[in-house]
Amino acid sequence: MFEGLLPAEVVVVRATDSMWEAPLHPQERACVARAVPARLREFAAGRAAARQALQQLGVADAVLPGGRHREVVWPAGFVGSITHCGSECHAAVARGTVLAGLGIDVERRSPVDAGMTTLICTDAEQDRMDRLDETRRRLFPNRVFSAKESVYKCCFGTVGRFIDFREVEIDWDGRMQQFGVRWLATDIGSRLGGMRLTGRCRVAGDYVITAAILEPD
Ligand SMILES: CC(C)(COP(=O)(O)OP(=O)(O)OC[C@H]1O[C@@H](n2cnc3c(N)ncnc32)[C@H](O)[C@@H]1OP(=O)(O)O)[C@@H](O)C(=O)NCCC(=O)NCCS
Repeated sequence: MFEGLLPAEVVVVRATDSMWEAPLHPQERACVARAVPARLREFAAGRAAARQALQQLGVADAVLPGGRHREVVWPAGFVGSITHCGSECHAAVARGTVLAGLGIDVERRSPVDAGMTTLICTDAEQDRMDRLDETRRRLFPNRVFSAKESVYKCCFGTVGRFIDFREVEIDWDGRMQQFGVRWLATDIGSRLGGMRLTGRCRVAGDYVITAAILEPD
């Protein structure tokens, strides 16, 4: 799913069937102590996929607890991201010397009503959407939603706070396959300093898939 969306140094693992039943370390289990079975399964799949990705980068049997804002606490010197959507679950991991942040997201393409579009898109983004042809217009909120979730996961470790969907604009290329970001909240831009955040997007079958990377200064 993520082929060509991330640099070659990033290891991406799709959760296999058995990973959805994989055992958790006690510190990880504590994050989902009161979770319903479906949530427990997706959490286990994400942790197992991330563990395997880290293994490929030389880290054996990593313990991956969650932080106060649900972020994954990666081993020192590594960045990564997890996404789940129905039966899809993927983890991506890279060395911190290569990337300062990483975010991935998979969403099922689905109609988004006007009220929801207003929550996801800024006024300028809605203006851009209104000028698109019918096919692109229908998918626009799905693309923006997924891109912003990837962006959030990518920069949370550096920005350190919740970011509202209307605090950022996605700056798409003409084919809507690559993007940059425009921060509307000045504190976020200054926290990122000279680091460059970019992303890529693909629509495949029923899914909108995005990935964002934060390059070190
Ligand atoms: C957390 C969020 C980004 C995605 O959650 P979701 O809808 O369940 O979608 P996904 O399955 O794709 O991603 C969930 C995973 O994201 C990761 N994640 C959650 N919060 C995170 C954070 N603060 N920072 C980095 N990664 C985070 C976790 O690995 C989580 O899976 P896990 O709990 O099993 O470990 C979303 O729910 C949210 O809170 N969004 C609000 C903020 C936002 O997106 N702003 C956009 C403007 S930048």
